[in-house]
Amino acid sequence: MSVQTKLYEGKAKVIYSTEEPEILLADFKDDATAFNAQKRGTIQNKGVINCTISSKLFQELEALGIKTHYIDTPAPHQMRVKAVKIVPLEVVVRNIAAGSLCQQTGLALGTVLKKPLVEFYYKNDQLGDPLLTHERLLLLELATVEQVETITHLALQINQFLRDFLARCDITLVDFKLEFGLDSQQQILLADEISPDTCRLWDTSQETDPNLRVLDKDRFRKDMGNVENAYQEVLNRILKAVESKN
Ligand code: TMP
Ligand code: ASP
Repeated sequence: MSVQTKLYEGKAKVIYSTEEPEILLADFKDDATAFNAQKRGTIQNKGVINCTISSKLFQELEALGIKTHYIDTPAPHQMRVKAVKIVPLEVVVRNIAAGSLCQQTGLALGTVLKKPLVEFYYKNDQLGDPLLTHERLLLLELATVEQVETITHLALQINQFLRDFLARCDITLVDFKLEFGLDSQQQILLADEISPDTCRLWDTSQETDPNLRVLDKDRFRKDMGNVENAYQEVLNRILKAVESKN
């Protein structure tokens, strides 16, 4: 497969066209950014780790009947994906209060939510990805009412799967961000990635220690150290869980 034009370079991935118009190649980078790219750095081997984790999780989701953009993994840091038009929403699902939920509501870090909270943020770097109300989302025509319903349903299904799967890895799923896209038949597919960049993951057996428990990008955001080790640990545990199932 010969790689063609670079179509788009994001903060964590470069997207290339391929010989087939309906197929794109996502190349996962080691670059890390936070706070809308005000903080920049590198996490060694992150491209390979995040590509591998995302590939495994997309395969598991596909096996459950959840449609994703995933096709295959031609190289450790590269994923072939179906071309989709990304819905400009960052869909965040929260099980435990952390991050902006605590900052904006005063809820204490670690508060277990009575039921998962699904939130929509406007995927717009210039505006700093603001939290949307349902009415604003519809006003801006970012998605239709039916699409919002479908996306919410999918996000909750994905949360249920991820929580159960990660529990087998001794990892607590605090919250995570998803992106969805529309294929040429206007079908909604899960897109982007699911990785320690886009999830808050706590080591369940270290849950009472606010430093030791963090196995995700918060280590980079908050200069907590041991970032690479945390990402590698998540990968190791996920690979073990996938292997033990097969
Ligand atoms: P938040 O608490 O900062 O709103 O983040 C919620 C979740 O979304 C958390 O798991 C990290 C993830 N996230 C992204 O993947 N990309 C982003 O740009 C931001 C702000 C959060
Ligand atoms: N990915 C986002 C950025 O750079 C923010 C984050 O993950 O904290 O800017």
